[in-house]
Amino acid sequence: MTPAPSPETAIDTTAPLDGSTPRKRLFIRTWGCQMNVYDSGRMADVLAPLGYGPAETPEEADMVILNTCHIREKASEKVFSDLGRLRVMKEARAEAGQKMVLAVAGCVAQAEGKEITTRAPWVDIVLGPQTYHRLPEMVARAARAAGAQIDTDFPVEQKFDLLPQPRADQGPTAFLTIQEGCDKFCSFCVVPYTRGAEFSRPVAAIVAEARRLVAGGAREISLLGQNVNAWHGEGPGGATWTLSRLLYELAEIEGLARLRYTTSHPRDMDDDLIQAHGRIPQLMPFLHLPVQSGSDKILAAMNRGHQADLFFRITDQLREVRPDMAFTSDFIVGHPGEKAEDHAATMALVEKVGFALSYSFKYSARPGTPAAGQPFQVAEAEKDARLQELQALLRQQQDAFNLSCVGLECDILFTGTGRHPGQMAGRSPWLQPVHALGNADLVGRVARVKIAAAMPNSLSATLLDAKELTPA
Ligand code: 5AD
Ligand code: SF4
Repeated sequence: MTPAPSPETAIDTTAPLDGSTPRKRLFIRTWGCQMNVYDSGRMADVLAPLGYGPAETPEEADMVILNTCHIREKASEKVFSDLGRLRVMKEARAEAGQKMVLAVAGCVAQAEGKEITTRAPWVDIVLGPQTYHRLPEMVARAARAAGAQIDTDFPVEQKFDLLPQPRADQGPTAFLTIQEGCDKFCSFCVVPYTRGAEFSRPVAAIVAEARRLVAGGAREISLLGQNVNAWHGEGPGGATWTLSRLLYELAEIEGLARLRYTTSHPRDMDDDLIQAHGRIPQLMPFLHLPVQSGSDKILAAMNRGHQADLFFRITDQLREVRPDMAFTSDFIVGHPGEKAEDHAATMALVEKVGFALSYSFKYSARPGTPAAGQPFQVAEAEKDARLQELQALLRQQQDAFNLSCVGLECDILFTGTGRHPGQMAGRSPWLQPVHALGNADLVGRVARVKIAAAMPNSLSATLLDAKELTPA
C-alpha cells in the first residue's frame, strides 16, 4: 500500500494511468492523508479518458494538479510556494507555445479557494474534494478559456472557412450547419469534450449558404447544430442575433418553402423562438426537443439546468401559437441514481406531452463524463425493463399520431420516386415519409394531398389538386 504523504511532504504521481497512448501529460502532487492519495488516483482516472497520461516532471506537464492538505498552516504555505515555482514553469511553457492547466485540489482549495485565486491568479482551476467528478468539465472549460480546443485539430471558427463549401445541389431538402459544439456539460454526454465549445457561424455566411442551396434546388432547409437554439451569431454591424431573428431572415428567401432546426435544448427555447413558430409559415410545426427524463431529481443529476415543468410550459406555449405542432424527443433510462419513481415521472411526462416519435436509450457510461464515475449505477436488467416500458408507450403514441393524420389535408414536399412504379415520395410537415401516385415532375414541389392511410413508419396519400403545385 502506498504510504500516505505527510501534509508537508508531497508524493508525485508518475505511474502510468491507463493503457492508451497519452496525448497530454498530467502531473499530480499529493500532500496529506490516505484520502488525498485515493482522490489523486480518482482524478487521474477521470482525466485518462480525455487523453491525459503521466508526466515525469511538472515542467513537461500539460496539466498540474496540486492535491493539498490543510491540516497545518505550514502545509498551505508549502502550496503557495509551489504555486510560485509553477508560475515560472507555466510562463516558460507559454513562451514555447505550450499550455499548462494548473489546478489546486484538496482541503486548501476548499478552505482558501478565494485566497488562492487572489494570491495566485495564474491558477486555472480550484476544486474542493466534493467536486472531483466535475474535473473533466472544469479542465475543458479552463483549456477553452486559455484558447485551446479539446480534441479538435484546428479551431472550429476556421473549420467552416477551411472546408470546401457544401454542395449546393443537395436536392429539395438541404442541411445547413449553423452551430457546433456544446457548453452544457450534461453529466452523461461526451459532446462538450469531443466537439469543444459552442461556436455560432455569422449571419452573412449562413444566409449566403442558404441562398446558394435554394438556387441549387433546395425547397427545405434544416438548420443544424448540437445546440442549435443556443445559436447566437454575429449579424450585420456586429450585433448578436438569436435563432428566431435568423429564421425570420431566412424566411425572406424567395423559393424557400420550409424551414426546420435541430437539435434544441429546452433551456434555450426563448419566448421569441416560440412566437416565431406562430408567425413564420415556412417554419414547420415540428420540433425535436430532447428532455432525457421526466424526474426533476434526475434532470438535476444530469446537469440539464431545468425541471420537467419548463418542458411542459414550452410544449403548451408552442401548441398555443401553432395548434398543429408535434414533438419528438430523446430519453435516457437508467441514469445513475434513477429509481423506480424517477422512471415513473418520465412515463408521466410522456403521457402528458404526447410525442409523434422519440428516441430512447439505455444509459451507457461514457469514459470521462461525470455520470460514469457516479455511485448508484442502475442494474442492466432494470435498465432493460424500463426501456421496454418506455418504448412501448412511445410506439403507441407514434402509431396514434400517424393514425390521427388519416383524412387530413396537408402539404407534402416531394423529394423523389417511391418504391413502386408511379409512386412518388415526400415528407409531411411532421417529417413523416409520405407516398402518393403522381408524376416525376413532382420532385422539388410542394403539393396538397389528403392522407389516405397510416403505416408504422410512413403515410400514403392522394394528390388533391395538381394546380396548387408551387413552382419548381
Ligand atoms: N448514454 C445513453 N444515451 C446517451 N445520449 C447521449 N449520451 C448518452 C449516454 N451516455 C443520448 C441522449 C442524446 C442523444 C443524442 O443520445 O438522449 O439526446
Ligand atoms: Fe450538450 Fe446535448 Fe450533450 Fe447535453 S446532451 S452536453 S446539451 S450535446
